[in-house]
Amino acid sequence: MKRVIENSKVLVTGGAGFIGSNLTEVLLAQNNQVVCLDNFATGKRENIEEFLANPNYTLIEGDIRDAEACARACEGVDYVLHQAALGSVPRSIDDPVTTDQVNCNGFVQMLVAAREAKVKRFVYAASSSTYGDSETLPKVEDKIGRPLSPYAVTKFVNELYADVFAKTYGMELIGLRYFNVFGRRQDPYGAYAAVIPKFAIALMKGVSPVINGDGTYSRDFTYIDNVIQMNQLAALTENPAAINQVYNTAFGERTTLNQLFEALRAGMAKYRPEIASVEAIYGDNRVGDIPHSLADISKARKLLGYDPQYSIVQGLSEAALWYVENLEL
Ligand SMILES: NC(=O)c1ccc[n+]([C@@H]2O[C@H](COP(=O)([O-])OP(=O)(O)OC[C@H]3O[C@@H](n4cnc5c(N)ncnc54)[C@H](O)[C@@H]3O)[C@@H](O)[C@H]2O)c1
Repeated sequence: MKRVIENSKVLVTGGAGFIGSNLTEVLLAQNNQVVCLDNFATGKRENIEEFLANPNYTLIEGDIRDAEACARACEGVDYVLHQAALGSVPRSIDDPVTTDQVNCNGFVQMLVAAREAKVKRFVYAASSSTYGDSETLPKVEDKIGRPLSPYAVTKFVNELYADVFAKTYGMELIGLRYFNVFGRRQDPYGAYAAVIPKFAIALMKGVSPVINGDGTYSRDFTYIDNVIQMNQLAALTENPAAINQVYNTAFGERTTLNQLFEALRAGMAKYRPEIASVEAIYGDNRVGDIPHSLADISKARKLLGYDPQYSIVQGLSEAALWYVENLEL
């Protein structure tokens, strides 16, 4: 079975964001045409600057809530890798209406456009937040709890729509439940930044990062290259049993926030020794946070042939160097 997408036309929605721009970079290197649909709500122009001169790259600046923009973006496309959404649990708690409009209505607009364009496969970013209040560890795809935030509701709704579009219109869809993805180009700025880039920028500034809670909460932090592999396998699989499914997209190991902080600090201190003396401080737990998250990745291994190449330690060492070289203070 083919494991990498080549010589195809791929639409990456949210292509100016963290995950979308990393997917784009790899797809262009593999001789694909890449269309990016993004409204720059959270995406960054600097993430796509290096692609603009590439004749195989097309930027459509538009909104996934706009049917016409979605239709234009899907023209002649083989695979859709749908990343566009408003991420962040706290953002959805502050503004549930916009999160719902983008993540649910925008998702349906994209499904309709992809159906009309007869794309071969629609792979979309689902989320580990769909496990909600389920305390089962590790998380197995068919055992979910009740959502704990508006964001989690929207990501679960995506899965329900995908299922219905598969059954009703015969589309081929695959959902990837991402678990705390990290790596190059993840945005460290703003109130809704994710924990690893937030820690990284604090360390660069010599400021103590704030750990929510006592640091014993744990997550299955997943390096971006593992996520890129999953997207390609999901787009290409020819195993009928693998299609119209959702998959945990993770490494399959749990790291506490305290361990994460120490590993990132050690990784960055290799390049900036003064970082070694920065200590973390502790704040309150965040609303909607679950204590522990860990993925069982055996379904993806079995049905898609997933074989993650980067452990958290390897990923953090790559990310540490990237942050040291690229963060603007
Ligand atoms: N990063 C993670 O750990 C993680 C975990 C679980 C799920 N996800 C999901 O993965 C996807 C990508 O996340 P990311 O971390 O790269 O976030 P990101 O914010 O960097 O990227 C999202 C992109 O979508 C674009 N976008 C937002 N609203 C849009 C709209 N209405 N129309 C067009 N484009 C729009 C943004 O401008 C941005 O470029 C999202 O669907 C997110 O929910 C991410």
